[in-house]
Amino acid sequence: MSTYQVFWPIIRCLPPEFAHKAALALLRLPLRWNDAVLDPFEWNGFRCRNRVGIAAGFDKNAAVVPGVERLGAGFVEVGTILVEPWPGNQVSPRMRRLVTQRAIWNRLGFTSDGVLQVKRNLGPVSRHSLGGMVVLCNIGPHPGRLRQAGDPLAATRDDLLQLVEALLPFADAFVVNLSSPNTRGLRSLLQSDRLNDVVMRPLVERLRQAEAAEGQGRRRPLLLKLPPEDADRRPWARDDLARVICPLIEPSWCDGLVAVNTSSRLATELVSFPPADLPGGISGEPLRPEALRVVSLVRKLVGPKPLLIGCGGMMQPSDAISFLDAGADLVETYTGMVYGGPGLIVECARAIRDHRPRARLEPA
Ligand SMILES: Cc1cc2nc3c(=O)[nH]c(=O)nc-3n(C[C@H](O)[C@H](O)[C@H](O)COP(=O)(O)O)c2cc1C
Repeated sequence: MSTYQVFWPIIRCLPPEFAHKAALALLRLPLRWNDAVLDPFEWNGFRCRNRVGIAAGFDKNAAVVPGVERLGAGFVEVGTILVEPWPGNQVSPRMRRLVTQRAIWNRLGFTSDGVLQVKRNLGPVSRHSLGGMVVLCNIGPHPGRLRQAGDPLAATRDDLLQLVEALLPFADAFVVNLSSPNTRGLRSLLQSDRLNDVVMRPLVERLRQAEAAEGQGRRRPLLLKLPPEDADRRPWARDDLARVICPLIEPSWCDGLVAVNTSSRLATELVSFPPADLPGGISGEPLRPEALRVVSLVRKLVGPKPLLIGCGGMMQPSDAISFLDAGADLVETYTGMVYGGPGLIVECARAIRDHRPRARLEPA
């Protein structure tokens, strides 16, 4: 039994948001929790030391990146980062553990200290000190501005352009989050016919211009994070998913995808307390079948080249292998760490190294 499992009966009694803050505080201590597994992965110049990462939402403000490095992760997706601070949804409850299902229900919304604070946090962190762990910046539109905007897509583009410029020196890749179920209207943007023209194309063009001005020849992947279901909370139909992702990938308005975010369909099935207008999202074990289905569908739709990160219910090392078998290049977890402890990261990385010795080193 791991030390984490010994403490689990205490941890599970703590309110989840308090337990999360305590975990971040522990990660600020200069302790090495795990030695990283070295199993390098490379995709068009994007490199990480192994294929297992920490999903968005764990370190929303990039406050503990060196601590996450000491967990042995290959990468961390920090954020969702917003242009300005935002307290998240002021509703109660907004986060619960569903212990028997090994799941988390949350409707935090985008709680963010804003991009200036993220820059302050990342400023002193030298890339060299991260030992090959890389930082993906997950960015999203500000819910307050979104609510007031006449054209939410244009407001989203303006926020994302600002975030990409501000975070360029710190990011090894960007992930656009239009898939959180906890910000009203966000998921419908993803299915808009204007998404590519108004948001994704200007964004990738600005990113490439900024990289050219930087003059280092560095190219950062731009990824889009997908929900496990459509805007009507139905599991993705193949054609609907194809309509969202194929027009993005074929003309290269985006380099790849992260699949998936939390499920509000599962929230309406598993949780009785939240109101219908903001049901929240489920992560963890119950999400895995849907996450694997979407990863497999995405890989079939986009072919072998795009970068694909699998996420959702990776609770044990065999799940990491299942994601890779379904077509993911990389995997990431949040809820698995809550139930399994921080050792899950290296256990999954070791399983991948041992079961799939041929890391993808060829250029896409
Ligand atoms: C408490 C909590 C907060 C989250 N916050 C974010 C977020 O800010 N941005 C985002 O893209 N995903 C967020 N997520 C979703 C995770 O990144 C991930 O997609 C999801 O939890 C499924 O993975 P898991 O089952 O391994 O947790 C959050 C998840 C949880 C549980």
